[in-house]
This record gives sequence, structure tokens and C-alpha cells, in this order.
Amino acid sequence: YESPSPIETDSEDEVIFNRILKVNKDCSRYLQEGDIVPQRSRSAINCRNCYWPQSSDGIVRVPYVLDPTYEESHIKGIQEAMAEFETLTCINFVKRQTERDYLSIKSADGCWSNYGKVGGGQTVSVMKGGCMWKGIIQHELDHALGFLHEHSRSDRDKYVKIMWEYISPADRPDFKKFENSNNLGLPYDYSSVMHYGPTVNHTTIVPIPDGAVHIGQRQGLSNMDVAKINKLYNCSRCSTILDAAFGSLKSANHPRNYSHNTNCVWLIRTRSRKISLHFRAFELQKTRGCQGDYVKVYDGSSKSSTVLMDKTCGSKIPTDVVASSNLMLVEFVTDGAGTASGFQATFTSGRIGHFFKVRETLIPFKIASSSTVTNGCANASEDSNFQSTLEQTFL
Ligand SMILES: *[C@@H]1O[C@H](CO)[C@@H](O)[C@H](O)[C@H]1NC(C)=O
Ligand SMILES: *[C@@H]1O[C@H](CO)[C@@H](O)[C@H](O)[C@H]1NC(C)=O
Ligand SMILES: *[C@@H]1O[C@H](CO)[C@@H](O)[C@H](O)[C@H]1NC(C)=O
Ligand SMILES: [Zn+2]
Repeated sequence: YESPSPIETDSEDEVIFNRILKVNKDCSRYLQEGDIVPQRSRSAINCRNCYWPQSSDGIVRVPYVLDPTYEESHIKGIQEAMAEFETLTCINFVKRQTERDYLSIKSADGCWSNYGKVGGGQTVSVMKGGCMWKGIIQHELDHALGFLHEHSRSDRDKYVKIMWEYISPADRPDFKKFENSNNLGLPYDYSSVMHYGPTVNHTTIVPIPDGAVHIGQRQGLSNMDVAKINKLYNCSRCSTILDAAFGSLKSANHPRNYSHNTNCVWLIRTRSRKISLHFRAFELQKTRGCQGDYVKVYDGSSKSSTVLMDKTCGSKIPTDVVASSNLMLVEFVTDGAGTASGFQATFTSGRIGHFFKVRETLIPFKIASSSTVTNGCANASEDSNFQSTLEQTFL
């Protein structure tokens, strides 16, 4: 297992929320809690009828338009961040046709969003050269879906201690809690994409009772973030994120027989590239063309990604499957007839030659642009070519 290249460490070792704060610090715009647009019509942050409507097919379609100044790499990055919502939840971000309410995703001054659906076109700011990271985009989209920061939940004092003495009076309002937050009956999640991370000097948020618990999220949506979206939006989805460097997955009940009419996905999202999937057990109902029960594997985070292993059934153990990046999607579908013991598989990541090529091209950029990467709004527009190249590589 290789450690990431120096610049990946710089970036990926930073908690998404902290990075947002750093970028927005240099912006003059007034934001609540660091990145939420204050609402003219709402004196406090609250949400009444601020959720996006569900269609009769169960899908929640959120229309969006993109800033015409985004380049191809930005668009690709934003769409990849959106694709994970679509894979794991019933939220689909769709290009706006004529819908009245929609997201206008723009490269404005910082990384920020409204809380929930506001009505009409509402801006989600994903600034080029600062906010173009999958986790940041997902964080801002999650606000637009109606989610607040995890550490501002009404019950947060049971899970974290706010170290007020280390927070300047000017910043204290950002650590307010929301007495009437909708916690959905789901647990507090230290690893939410909406959670504050450890800070450099003094720790401002300490988990209780064990202060050593990891806080914040470095990659993207957590399993609990997904569960919360699915609960809030009444989605019945069977989806799991696997984000360790290696691990395993299996069909429900394995080695006992799986159930009929299921549809589950596992999104393997590791920090190093080249995920390798190895089946250890495989026993699925055999049908012509595997139209009944099957396992299918994709090279990326969505069902529109390249297929690595097409519909597979029967009892022959498939050969290993290797993804080209740090994302792999495994889909398991069963019909209403026939059952068997299912499958079990393990995955690993890292150990690739290609990696070093990536590192060589990144080092010169690090030297040249070390200040622009973290300095946020103040010099965001300079060096935009550098930024695009960096972002493209990371996304
Ligand atoms: C950390 O402390 C140093 C020295 O006291 C100060 O200059 C710096 O701004 C602080 N950094 C943060 C992120 O608070
Ligand atoms: C989910 O279902 C409940 C109960 O049917 C309903 O009250 C709620 O408005 C639904 N939520 C959304 C976001 O549509
Ligand atoms: C489990 O599946 C196997 C293979 O299809 C079948 O022979 C067996 O009867 C099933 N067992 C149960 C308890 O359903
Ligand atoms: Zn936020």
C-alpha cells in the first residue's frame, strides 16, 4: 500500500469543511456557519417546504445549469460529484429544461450554497481554483438538498465539546447549534462530509467521550450522509460506500441464500488508484444472458461508467477485475425467481506503476502554485491554468 504523493497528502489530508472555511475566509461575502447563504425571508436558518419534490417514479430530480465559464474539466468534476448522489440515493441532478426551481452552479466568490430549495434559480458557488473538489461540491449540494452541518445538530453536545475559549468572538456564531434540526432519528456522524475537521492550532471541536475519534471527511459523502438523504427523501436504496484501502463485500445473508427482487450497489472509493476486486465465492441463479440474477462491475462511480464485468451469473468464480482509478461500482440484482448463496469478494488498492507518472507531473505544480491552492478568494483568479490542471488531476 503506497502513501499518496506529497501534493495529494496536502489536499486529501485536509478535511473538506476546513478547506471550505479556508477558501471562504478571503471572501468578503457574509455567510452563516462559514458557507451558508443567509436568507432574506428567513430570520434564522430554517426549512419549511425547502425540499425538492419527488416524482411518481420515486426519483427526486434537481434541475441545474452550469456557469458557461466552466471548462470541460470543471464540468466533468461537477458531474462526477453529482453521479455519486445518483448512484447511492434517489437524487438525480438533471440539466434544467424549463423548471422554475433550479440550481445555478457558478464560479462565484468562494464555496457556498443556500440551505434547501429556495425557489427560482438559486446559486451554488463552486469557485474555480479553490472549490473544485468532489467533496466540496458534494458538501455544497448537500446544503442545497436541505442539510446543515453535522456539528450544529441539536444533540451535538452529547457527541462533541466546543472549545469556546479557542474560538474568536467573531467566529462564535459559526458554532451555533440548531435546536430544531431534523436529525431524522439517525446517529451523529463524525465522518460526515458536513462535519468540521481537526484544526491546526487549537482544537475547536473535541469528540466525547473519546477525543481521539477521527472527525471530518476527506473524500466525499459518508454512508450516514447517504442514509440521511435516503431517509429525508423517502428513498429505498440499497447502497454502501467502501472507503478503506482494502476490505470485503458480500451479498446479503451469504453464505445463506439471497432474497428475491433486490438491487444493491457497493461504491468502492479508495484513496489510492487501481482498485482490484477478487471474488472468493460465487453462486448465482443461472439464466440465459444472466437476465435474472447478476453481478455487474463498472469502472467508475456510476452505472453509465465503462463496464468492467458485464452481467455475470452461475457458479464459475469470475476472474479478478481491476479499475483504472480509485472508484469502482459493484451492482447486484436479483429477480423474483430462483436463489442461491450469492457472492463474496475482497478488494485492494494501490501498487501501481502509473502512480509515479502522476507524481512526476504534480511536483512542479506544487512548487509553482503552493500559495494559490490554499489561499482562497484573494488570488483565486490568478493562475487559473494551474488550477485547472491540478483540479483535473485530483478530480
Ligand atoms: C496558529 O498560530 C499561529 C501563531 O500563534 C498564528 O500565526 C496562525 O495564524 C494560527 N493559525 C490558525 C489556523 O489559527
Ligand atoms: C416523505 O414521506 C413523508 C410521509 O409520507 C412526507 O411527510 C414527507 O414530506 C416526504 N418527504 C419528502 C422530502 O418528500
Ligand atoms: C438455496 O439455493 C440453492 C441453489 O439454488 C437451492 O438448491 C436451495 O434449495 C436453496 N435453499 C433454500 C433454503 O432456499
Ligand atoms: Zn457547509
